[in-house]
Amino acid sequence: MNQLDMKGRSAIVTGGASGIGLAIAKRLAQSGANVAIWDFNEQSMAEAVKVLGAVKTHTAKVDVSKIEQVEAAFKSTVAAFGKVDALVNSAGVAGKNATVADYPVDEWIRVHDINLNGTFYTCRTVAAHMIKNNYGRIVNIASVAGKEGNPNASAYSSSKAAVIGLTKSLGKELAKNNITVNCVTPAAVKTPIFDQVAQSHIDYMLSKIPMGRFGLVEEIAATVAWACTEDCSFTTGATFDLSGGRATY
Ligand SMILES: NC(=O)c1ccc[n+]([C@@H]2O[C@H](COP(=O)([O-])OP(=O)(O)OC[C@H]3O[C@@H](n4cnc5c(N)ncnc54)[C@H](O)[C@@H]3O)[C@@H](O)[C@H]2O)c1
Repeated sequence: MNQLDMKGRSAIVTGGASGIGLAIAKRLAQSGANVAIWDFNEQSMAEAVKVLGAVKTHTAKVDVSKIEQVEAAFKSTVAAFGKVDALVNSAGVAGKNATVADYPVDEWIRVHDINLNGTFYTCRTVAAHMIKNNYGRIVNIASVAGKEGNPNASAYSSSKAAVIGLTKSLGKELAKNNITVNCVTPAAVKTPIFDQVAQSHIDYMLSKIPMGRFGLVEEIAATVAWACTEDCSFTTGATFDLSGGRATY
């Protein structure tokens, strides 16, 4: 494993209690960062901090789809660490598998509230702080579904396409403030999110990956943690592909 330098840096990882977010939180901790996990699952969050080994850790129980909770979590994190250098948005849900014609309206709204609005609320909340500090790194976890559109997953695909668009806009807005904003588009990675998805959909996603295997959480974490370092200084608004060859653009 390459050694990344996050010494003296403080990072927030939403959805950091499980799966991809947890692997990112661990990699940032191993790289020397103080790590705050924001998640709405208190029990997994308590388990996660035990294995992090960060210099300093902080947890905040937060539903990212509620802006007041995001703002309160940010205040408590700044109180704990003094500043925030990096934000990783990994909190997300898969949503129901159904055709557009059958897609329940309340489920469509829930998926966008968490995956898209949640990402907007956290970015909005940290932006002013990072501008004041003239430094920041933001990485959003989108999905290959946002690039390609998976059938029977329209809400998920649409929310992740919007996260890519949000990343591009914010990257350009903050380009003169020494703040980079990037996203990654993983293909299927075996995590607890699979429990929310139909087996036929998992089979479909695997069949589209030229490498013929699922991604590993550590593979996603390696790219994301690098994009949280000072070295990621001339790339912003970009989409890093992590799809085993599925989306070569
Ligand atoms: N696993 C994959 O195949 C895959 C592929 C591409 C993109 N992604 C994206 O990666 C991210 C992480 O997914 P994962 O596979 O690690 O899933 P996961 O279910 O293991 O982890 C998601 C975490 O987000 C938290 N969360 C969900 N809704 C929340 C909310 N409203 N507020 C706060 N926390 C909330 C959950 O409690 C959980 O800890 C998601 O955004 C997902 O869409 C996953």
